[in-house]
Amino acid sequence: MRNLSRLMLAVAFLFVLGVSIASARSLTQAGADDITSGGQLYDKWYAVLGVAAPDGDMPIWERQLTNTRSGADTWRCSECHGWDYKGSEGAYASGSHATGFPNVMKLGASMSVDEIVGHLKGSKDKSHDFSRYMDDATLAKLAIFLKEGAIDDGEFIDSVTLKVKNGNLEHGKSLYAETCAKCHGDDGKTIIFRSEGINEYLGSVATRDPYRFLHRTRFGVAGTEMPIGRALGWTPVDGRDVLAYAQTLPTGYEQEPVSDAGAGSETSPQMGGPAAGTAGGIFTGILAGLGMAGLSVLFLGLLVVVGAVAVWAMRSRK
Ligand code: HEC
Ligand code: HEC
Repeated sequence: MRNLSRLMLAVAFLFVLGVSIASARSLTQAGADDITSGGQLYDKWYAVLGVAAPDGDMPIWERQLTNTRSGADTWRCSECHGWDYKGSEGAYASGSHATGFPNVMKLGASMSVDEIVGHLKGSKDKSHDFSRYMDDATLAKLAIFLKEGAIDDGEFIDSVTLKVKNGNLEHGKSLYAETCAKCHGDDGKTIIFRSEGINEYLGSVATRDPYRFLHRTRFGVAGTEMPIGRALGWTPVDGRDVLAYAQTLPTGYEQEPVSDAGAGSETSPQMGGPAAGTAGGIFTGILAGLGMAGLSVLFLGLLVVVGAVAVWAMRSRK
């Protein structure tokens, strides 16, 4: 009898241990890919963190007059430094998104992660201080993204027509059919993006703002089920080929607009859904942990009942 209950205790102990190790592991994995989180923060950090954008315009915004947007958009790294990260030296050199603000891919490459974090805390320019809104760990993700995740796609894309150069359409088509068509549809029109008052489809985003297309294909859109290219193991060439194919999809325009990377804005990532960004990931991890803890309590309860029945059966046999 003693031995039986000891055995049951040992089994229960091992079970609980296993559950805690499993949930601890799911917590660390949720925060593992800093580059992807950094990429999503660069896109729209306040949506990733699930907070409202700060009131009014970002203080640096008044240093330029070309880009007439206001409010929340002015707080996004992408709005000031571009989807190609090259600011005034890239696609946002002209067009409605032009700000004249600098190329952070180049500047970031010459800075250490700590220096970038310092800059994001206002060390050099008080107006460029984001430390009220993001903690050091979050700012470090942005820095790691800029140093290691920002990829120069310039050689793939014609700077005038914005068309992919030398893309492999067949390869892009098969990647699209495997991974994208189930949500966006064969023609890219199943999901409609409302942006600045017009409807956009995957084909029009690819045509008007190829760099945004590549960024979001690579890092995903926070708060959606959209797969993350990096997590799928896609290379820059895979992204380029899908973009090349997406540029052949219908744009939905009666007339082709002038190519202008500046013309398109973008949809808003929303919070919610599993593992969106780190905060969401941790939350999902905790929930999973709780769920498993609940299961183990149930399991323990069952063990106790079985034990009690066994004891009763043995006693009554005597
Ligand atoms: C409102 C526009 C604006 C926004 C939003 C903005 N920046 Fe900047 N950024 C600038 C300007 C202007 C400069 C150059 C002047 C300066 O350093 O303040 C700059 C400089 C930088 C530099 C170079 C620093 C150096 O020492 O040369 C980095 C890196 C950078 N920004 C990253 C970011 C990141 C990451 C975000 C998003 C959290 C961001 N920026 C958001 C306008 C902006
Ligand atoms: C599970 C469904 C799903 C799959 C699969 C999917 N997407 Fe998406 N995609 C979405 C959702 C949802 C959005 C966000 C829509 C919104 O914000 O209104 C989105 C947005 C996008 C955007 C951003 C558009 C913009 O306005 O900036 C791009 C680019 C994109 N998807 C490309 C792709 C590509 C390329 C693939 C294949 C690798 C793909 N998607 C696969 C669901 C999906």
